[in-house]
Amino acid sequence: MENSNLIYQRKSIRSFSDRRISTITIEEIIQDAQRAPSWQNSQPWEVYIASGENVKKIRSGFKITNEAGKTDLTTPHRTSRSELSMNNIKEWSKSVEEAVGVEGTDDPEWVDARNNLFYAPYLVYLTTSKKASEFTIYDMGAFGQTLMLSAASHGIGTIPAYALSNHPEIIKKELSIPQDQEIVVGIAMGYANNSKINNISTKRASVKKILHMKE
Ligand SMILES: Cc1cc2nc3c(=O)[nH]c(=O)nc-3n(C[C@H](O)[C@H](O)[C@H](O)COP(=O)(O)O)c2cc1C
Repeated sequence: MENSNLIYQRKSIRSFSDRRISTITIEEIIQDAQRAPSWQNSQPWEVYIASGENVKKIRSGFKITNEAGKTDLTTPHRTSRSELSMNNIKEWSKSVEEAVGVEGTDDPEWVDARNNLFYAPYLVYLTTSKKASEFTIYDMGAFGQTLMLSAASHGIGTIPAYALSNHPEIIKKELSIPQDQEIVVGIAMGYANNSKINNISTKRASVKKILHMKE
């Protein structure tokens, strides 16, 4: 990774082409991600990547199930979020509508992409031991973000998504993930296509709202 602007270049990609990534590049991205900090350098992560036939099987498994599903990690209910987060989510919905149109996340192109796991040629699953403590989530998040920034440095798009891991039993079967591992997040990876749903430009709350400095 060479360019600090990568932090600003990275954005979630929700529709991918089927262009392949070389194995060497994938290994470089994972090696970069390994530079993430972790408690006592415990490096509690493992990475399982589906490609080719595996992706097709996972995709069709999700379609057959066609239910809401349940991730290994518990998910927060919308109404249990802070006011700060609720406001940010409202702003996000506006950014989606600006790029996609008034239907927002009900737009047919959006729904089709989500139902097909964004047509991603690679599904990257970050797992950790079920024995891990809550603090491990910090390590896993750092790993995921480093991975996505490294991918961006290669011109490769990513999105971390709940929608990719809400049927963990299907993923674990297809990727032979041991039952003592839990899936923390799924990240779709590949080259972006020119769909309008990739044109979303998200904003962030003002620094003043979140920064509390005292002298
Ligand atoms: C844990 C997590 C789960 C997410 N799940 C989804 C999802 O299921 N579907 C989706 O379209 N985006 C999902 N996202 C992407 C966020 O919407 C996105 O990161 C956020 O709007 C900021 O936009 P940016 O990534 O383009 O900067 C998820 C992001 C995170 C970190």
